[in-house]
Amino acid sequence: MGTIDEMVGASPAICAVFDLVRKMANTEMPVLITGETGTGKELTAQAIHERSLRKLGPFVPINCGAIPETLLESELFGHERGAFTGAVQQKKGKLEAAAGGTLFLDEVGDLLPALQVKLLRFLQEGTFERIGGQETLRVDARVLAATNVDLKTAIDKNLFREDLYYRLGVLHIHLPPLRDRGEDTVLMAMVFLKQAAATSRKTIRGYTPQAVDVLRAHSWPGNVRELSNRVRRAVVMAEGIEITPHDLDLAGEELPTADSLDSLRAAHRRIEMELLVKAISLHQGNLTRMARDLEVSRSTLYRKLRAYGLEKFVPAATPLSSDTRLKSKKSAKFSAQESGGEMPRESTAVNLAMEPTVSQSV
Ligand SMILES: Nc1ncnc2c1ncn2[C@@H]1O[C@H](COP(=O)(O)OP(=O)(O)OP(=O)(O)O)[C@@H](O)[C@H]1O
Ligand SMILES: [Mg+2]
Repeated sequence: MGTIDEMVGASPAICAVFDLVRKMANTEMPVLITGETGTGKELTAQAIHERSLRKLGPFVPINCGAIPETLLESELFGHERGAFTGAVQQKKGKLEAAAGGTLFLDEVGDLLPALQVKLLRFLQEGTFERIGGQETLRVDARVLAATNVDLKTAIDKNLFREDLYYRLGVLHIHLPPLRDRGEDTVLMAMVFLKQAAATSRKTIRGYTPQAVDVLRAHSWPGNVRELSNRVRRAVVMAEGIEITPHDLDLAGEELPTADSLDSLRAAHRRIEMELLVKAISLHQGNLTRMARDLEVSRSTLYRKLRAYGLEKFVPAATPLSSDTRLKSKKSAKFSAQESGGEMPRESTAVNLAMEPTVSQSV
């Protein structure tokens, strides 16, 4: 399964991101990806690469904030033998390693001014020199960059070049924080649970309704990474077949206070989604049994599932008229959106892989 298939989400906010990824993948221009920590910037960069014509080439990430300043230039642009003490042989940098593919500059805001100049030149002319090198080199690499600091502020403080900012940021994707992605939190929690339980020896069916409330109420400052870690931890801690608030260890944090009122509409959505998630979990996505319990027709149920991006949790084996399927527009996984909005008809792989109810015995 490619990286793109790992991007989960059905909220309007993340669907807008998926749209941008799809459009921007087809160009050769740099893309600036912004967003709080853990929102999926690197995953988005990989998704762009995998959708691009360069997908068979390398995807080369380099974290500009994690490498000591003195080493970064050499890491990025390489050096010639004898360029500095310790440079005993010639070394190619990440830029050359990305030839035919994509260079992903993570934490680009941490680049020092001298390197910003060198990067700008590469973006404008496609040329650079290794440290200590006389030869001007040319490499065919697309640049994607990410930052979780506000580059405009850095420009105001003269820490980041405005011309580089405009060069990098012609195409821009901002990843919304998890707290602004509505029901995606629950959706992702289900996917992560399935993944985490698959590596453990536990049989875990889903979340208790209280646990779902807790997942919704938390503000997730560490975003998707925090959620993923929390779920993995909960699987380790769980003693029953459902994850409880205790397992999540988030209880008491930011639960809605009695005087905060949902709008009727929001409350309606929340309850409906909660019931749907519970029904999927209980009946392992069997549409007929879910419809019976929820006392709606199968087509109404399917329409509801689609409205919440939950239809991917219903095994493909469940018979539905192809008309209904063709109308499917949004889906929980990016890959399905890419197939022209049409759900895979025969393949059970995606659906089974997404099955929220986890039953892992060995
Ligand atoms: N839409 C998503 N669906 C599934 N998993 C996701 C999604 N977005 C992010 N993740 C997962 O969350 C974790 C953090 O994502 P990623 O490293 O891309 O975030 P980031 O924005 O680069 O974080 P940082 O700012 O800390 O570098 C990864 O494990 C990634 O696989
Ligand atoms: Mg990152």
